[in-house]
Amino acid sequence: LNTLNIKIYTPAHSYPILLGENLLEKLTELYDFRDYTKILLISDSNVGPIYAANVRTAISKNYEIPITEFESPAGEKSKLLKTITKIWEKLSEIGADRKSLVINLGGGITTDMGGFAASCYMRGINFINIATSLEAMVDASIGGKTGINLGSLKNHLGTFAHPKCVIMDIQTLTTLSKRDLIAAFAEIIKHGLIADAKYFDLVKMQNPLNLDTELLNKIILGSLKIKANVVEKDEKEAGVRQILNFGHTAGHAIETLSFKTKKPLLHGEAVALGMIIAAKLSELVGNIDHETFQVIENVINFAGLPTKLQNYQTKEIIKLLSSDKKSIAGKAKWVLLKSIGEADWNVEVGDDLVRQAIASVVSNQ
Ligand SMILES: NC(=O)c1ccc[n+]([C@@H]2O[C@H](COP(=O)([O-])OP(=O)(O)OC[C@H]3O[C@@H](n4cnc5c(N)ncnc54)[C@H](O)[C@@H]3O)[C@@H](O)[C@H]2O)c1
Ligand SMILES: [Zn+2]
Repeated sequence: LNTLNIKIYTPAHSYPILLGENLLEKLTELYDFRDYTKILLISDSNVGPIYAANVRTAISKNYEIPITEFESPAGEKSKLLKTITKIWEKLSEIGADRKSLVINLGGGITTDMGGFAASCYMRGINFINIATSLEAMVDASIGGKTGINLGSLKNHLGTFAHPKCVIMDIQTLTTLSKRDLIAAFAEIIKHGLIADAKYFDLVKMQNPLNLDTELLNKIILGSLKIKANVVEKDEKEAGVRQILNFGHTAGHAIETLSFKTKKPLLHGEAVALGMIIAAKLSELVGNIDHETFQVIENVINFAGLPTKLQNYQTKEIIKLLSSDKKSIAGKAKWVLLKSIGEADWNVEVGDDLVRQAIASVVSNQ
């Protein structure tokens, strides 16, 4: 069992991240459920039917705590306040109190939403994350950011709230779709680019669909360590944590625009395009050379992620940049690379360069 202990500021904010195989069956050995009065098990319409019963059975074998399941339709279209309201109503209906527990079983959407709901219910009750998607394992389920979309604005509402424990059963990835596996590689590549050239070397030129358990384990652990390290230094994103948003400035704008099309992009796919834009900007301001830019573009392409956008307009993307959460007084702030493995944050870039970088990924306009 690979375990990692994240500590943030105070020991009170420390929680284990447990990564291994067949962990769902061993849940009660991994987390102490003893003092909880009620459990709400949150999942979505893909994950619930496959794994909720396993979680229920594992807990019920050892405890008599009433477990209620809540399932939302899978996908970003559910990541809205109306779903959170339903979760709160369900918690209230089952008589959940401050000693009740929320279990988020699923991908990043479930961990973001369930964490948000738990962090507000009665001013905050405990939750644990059982991450079942690669995106949730390498990124979303740890670090204490919870959130939902405001209309199509990505993660515009949210809280900082940490789970009590994060469990990752690598076995659950066997049922994840190929598209979702590939999408998660965007965040994996991101971690290498912003913080660790060695890790980038490990993950570049890997086929996300062809990884054995050992390599997968190594990659997940590598990403977790990078993210944990950054979060420990700056929990509330006052400074260095912003580097984790590399690719997300334009990425979120593209993701938002894609919701209105017939082919919405997955989060990771939009981030891949956002990373190419941010890497191009890094080149345009003179931080990296063209060769380095090409390496980055090749690695993203090799993973099976998109590198070009069709039927989008540069000006639409630019318009949305100002509503990015990092924007100050309507001015977008960028995370740019200084080299592979090192990033700078809070960078303002001239409008012309931004236009040029975005236009370089938008074809046929
Ligand atoms: N809080 C953070 O720090 C953070 C970081 C990165 C991403 N995110 C958020 O996470 C979300 C993306 O995460 P995601 O890609 O996991 O989305 P997701 O939760 O929608 O999961 C992806 C898809 O895979 C399905 N799925 C998940 N696990 C499965 C399994 N084991 N077997 C079969 N199907 C499975 C889900 O039902 C869904 O259809 C975005 O909303 C993004 O904003 C948050
Ligand atoms: Zn992301």
